Amino acid sequence: MGESQFPGPALQQGEQLSAVAVTATLSQVLSAVDRHRPIVESAIGSPSLQWAGEEDTAAFAAHWATRPEIRDAFIALQGDLGVGKTTLVRHLLQALGVAGRIKSPTYAVVEPYELPGLSIWHFDFYRFSDPREWEEAGFRDLFASPGLKIAEWPDKAAGMLPVADVVVQIRAQDDASREVWLRPGTARGTALVQSALFHAAEEARR
Ligand SMILES: Nc1ncnc2c1ncn2[C@@H]1O[C@H](COP(=O)(O)OP(=O)(O)O)[C@@H](O)[C@H]1O
Ligand SMILES: [Mg+2]
Repeated sequence: MGESQFPGPALQQGEQLSAVAVTATLSQVLSAVDRHRPIVESAIGSPSLQWAGEEDTAAFAAHWATRPEIRDAFIALQGDLGVGKTTLVRHLLQALGVAGRIKSPTYAVVEPYELPGLSIWHFDFYRFSDPREWEEAGFRDLFASPGLKIAEWPDKAAGMLPVADVVVQIRAQDDASREVWLRPGTARGTALVQSALFHAAEEARR
């Protein structure tokens, strides 16, 4: 443990990827999966994406919305206040077909959405403090149900939450662009990360 599972040179945290590097990392991911090796969470070796502006956030969200794996995924969003977590959720939910206002669940902790054949729960654990609330609010049952679960501030409910399929970590840069790390925690998450990286590499080639 503590070692990257991916063969080849590890990327340093903060190092940015060219489209070519994304593709190279991806083939390493794929060959690791081919050998049925587990993908471990590792900061070093996680490729990062660059979002120049909100339109890149929207493009990423629109791609994930096309993936079947997203419909049963648990996505954890990390990053400072104002970095764009709720913005990402809004674009993802709109791309999945949610119409109307998508409120930040900062006060309600969770906002549910029902689409034909798809349940979605958008959590914000920023104000979550009492672990008893977890059982009382029925969150255990929600996380055990089929559907998409997305959580902002997952660290505030650490110990209750299941392992995230993907941890999305967003960091603001000096120029208002965003650097984004995708860390898979499950096989489903690995599929989502791979397709997002492929998509980003494709877009960069255009
Ligand atoms: N990729 C991006 N690049 C630049 N600005 C962004 C990007 N994504 C979101 N923003 C802006 O940053 C702010 C993020 O707010 P919000 O999504 O509520 O953050 P959080 O939920 O992380 O606290 C919004 O004003 C949004 O327009
Ligand atoms: Mg938010």
